[in-house]
Amino acid sequence: MRRLVPRAVEPNDVESAYADLAGQRAEGRPYVAVNMVASVDGAISVEGRTKAMSSEADRFVFHFLRSLADVILVGAQTVRAENYGPPKVSEDRQAERVARGQAPVPRIAIVSGSLDLDWSSRLFTESPSRPLVLTVSSADASEARQVADVVVAGKDRVDLTAALALLGEQGVGVVLCEGGPTLNGVLAADDLIDELCLTIAPALVGGDVGTGVLGHTHLDDLLPMRVVHAFEDEGDLFLRYRRTAARPADRASRPVGEALAPTDDDTVEVFNDIMADLDYPMIVVTATDGHERSGCLAGFATQVSIHPPRYMVWISKKNHTYKVACRADTFAVHFPASGQHDLAELFGSETGDHVDKFASCEWHEGPEGAVIVDAIPRWFVGRITETFDSGDHVGFLLQPLDGECRPWSGQLGFQEVKGIPPGHRA
Ligand SMILES: NC(=O)c1ccc[n+]([C@@H]2O[C@H](COP(=O)([O-])OP(=O)(O)OC[C@H]3O[C@@H](n4cnc5c(N)ncnc54)[C@H](OP(=O)(O)O)[C@@H]3O)[C@@H](O)[C@H]2O)c1
Repeated sequence: MRRLVPRAVEPNDVESAYADLAGQRAEGRPYVAVNMVASVDGAISVEGRTKAMSSEADRFVFHFLRSLADVILVGAQTVRAENYGPPKVSEDRQAERVARGQAPVPRIAIVSGSLDLDWSSRLFTESPSRPLVLTVSSADASEARQVADVVVAGKDRVDLTAALALLGEQGVGVVLCEGGPTLNGVLAADDLIDELCLTIAPALVGGDVGTGVLGHTHLDDLLPMRVVHAFEDEGDLFLRYRRTAARPADRASRPVGEALAPTDDDTVEVFNDIMADLDYPMIVVTATDGHERSGCLAGFATQVSIHPPRYMVWISKKNHTYKVACRADTFAVHFPASGQHDLAELFGSETGDHVDKFASCEWHEGPEGAVIVDAIPRWFVGRITETFDSGDHVGFLLQPLDGECRPWSGQLGFQEVKGIPPGHRA
């Protein structure tokens, strides 16, 4: 368990914490994020509307998420209850979308079996691009076709797996579902929710409590999720969760070595021989939780995606830096130059359990409060977006935010430093 330490953040930090949504992709269908606001006691509306629960900050996140999506998906009852209008995106956001290769404004897609919608409303007459209507073959869609593009999937109920696959074929990458609970429940029942952005409004609503984020849907199994981030603004909690294959606790309690087929000793020896002769770059990783700083020399690290750019660093669970890393939002990843053995020794063979490594080197505070070691010519700061427990090391997936690339004499490689005894044995 860890306490979330309040640290003030800028609006830019909030944006960059959600910004990767635009680049997310899923297999065979668009990536689906659900955005909802709920009261502390789980109500999703007050007298049938969300307005009373939605603060200025919630509306900021609501509109920012819209600006990242290709399609906004919404249930017909929400369109009717909330009197949905055409999607609006500011000119600056439109320019950002176009630069990313998206249409200037996301399309609205309404799910309806009855097609009992007001076709003369502004949603259909003033939307910048024709709305989509996802419906069933048993419905008479002739009126809808005059003002919207109709997607038919299923006979009596919209088959959302099929409907989303059709949207994917049309090039839709990211769908933002804005509810309501009935539609969310249908998505969850088919395990189509990749992430949930949930605002918890600081109020008890009672009485007229709604039906929770997923309505009355019964799920056969838990759908585990992990927390991507949590922000607080004047009592509102902004929680971002992502679907995971297993609950983090389940993963942690299952030693990876036992889950995999045992590897025989000869194979391990061959594997170790191969690894011992490789010459991969050695990096210095620093992390801070705002109170404590830590840093270590690491060799398990590599770029793992080009679009979006992502880098992964694995830290030993025994390392002092690991404890701080678990509380940190960002890492500073430094690439020492060939010959910087003093720094390699400082960060490789001393342990932060016993010495303050930062008392022995010059450093300064960099972007996002990251700890930058002055003498290392190349570094970047990355936001931790995912973690992966791979055994005695845990992988931290990083979204690069900022950095510096000064001239150097080439990288410090594993072969140059493999004689340095580690501060902790992995
Ligand atoms: N707190 C929040 O963030 C939030 C967000 C959104 C909405 N809300 C609130 O939620 C309430 C509305 O939610 P709701 O759960 O009643 O309705 P909903 O999910 O918005 O819409 C349900 C309707 O969507 C259509 N639908 C959904 N899945 C379908 C399927 N598989 N096949 C065919 N049609 C399907 C049906 O439309 P037809 O009836 O046309 O067939 C169904 O009646 C409102 O009070 C609204 O204010 C709150």
